Amino acid sequence: MTTPNSSTPVQRYHPALMALHWLMALMIIALLLGGSLVTAPTPNTDPEKIGHIKGHMIVALSVGVLLIVRLLVRLRTSHPAPARSGMAWADRVAPWTHWAFYVLVFTMLVSGMTMAAMTGLPDIVFNGKGSLPSDFWHLPPRVVHGIVAKALFALIALHIGAAVYHQVIRKDGLLSRMWFGKR
Ligand code: HEM
Ligand code: HEM
Repeated sequence: MTTPNSSTPVQRYHPALMALHWLMALMIIALLLGGSLVTAPTPNTDPEKIGHIKGHMIVALSVGVLLIVRLLVRLRTSHPAPARSGMAWADRVAPWTHWAFYVLVFTMLVSGMTMAAMTGLPDIVFNGKGSLPSDFWHLPPRVVHGIVAKALFALIALHIGAAVYHQVIRKDGLLSRMWFGKR
């Protein structure tokens, strides 16, 4: 996709978008793995839990700020024409899967922040005031957070699978579109 006012089609995403892509990929994978394997399994009665939640919230809120910056960069920079996979249906679906990332990550942020607001987490975690509820599962945003996390895991698996398909089977050098070089 090129923006309407770009005269020469570009071969790569903008370097700022590439940097944000890889930084956020690392942060989001860390949040998903840390959230599922460390934060959620630790009982709320465990003294370590507040520290786990604190780390999770700091990384998540940084992702929130970067997501806004990324959306602005994405909307204001020119990007390469849609990749061709050799399958018409996949070519139609691919751009939607990219937008789905923005929607799912945003939903994780909103459900996480709602859960935090409902239980006074900012005060408990950052000011040492109050105590954690016995668990978070009675809160609807906790249920949403868990379900959307699984959907995000699945989307990332599909996305990595598609990148490997392009790189190894189609051999079209798709990864270079998301890597630094001459535009
Ligand atoms: C090791 C993991 C990953 C690999 C190998 C990878 C690879 C790529 C590649 C090659 C593209 C360019 C596709 C094209 O030219 O059409 C791309 C785009 C994109 N990737 Fe990833 N990616 C990874 C992880 C992630 C993660 C974790 C997210 C978000 C949670 C993500 C979100 C996106 C989005 C939204 C785009 C479209 C560009 C944009 O609108 O920002 N990727 N990725
Ligand atoms: C990109 C944003 C986020 C991602 C990817 C993410 C990911 C996750 C994951 C995967 C879990 C474990 C879910 C499960 O195993 O069922 C989790 C738990 C949790 N998340 Fe997030 N999260 C994000 C944002 C937030 C935010 C913004 C907050 C709060 C401000 C938050 C607070 C929590 C808490 C408190 C838990 C533990 C719930 C429990 O112990 O039952 N998360 N998160």
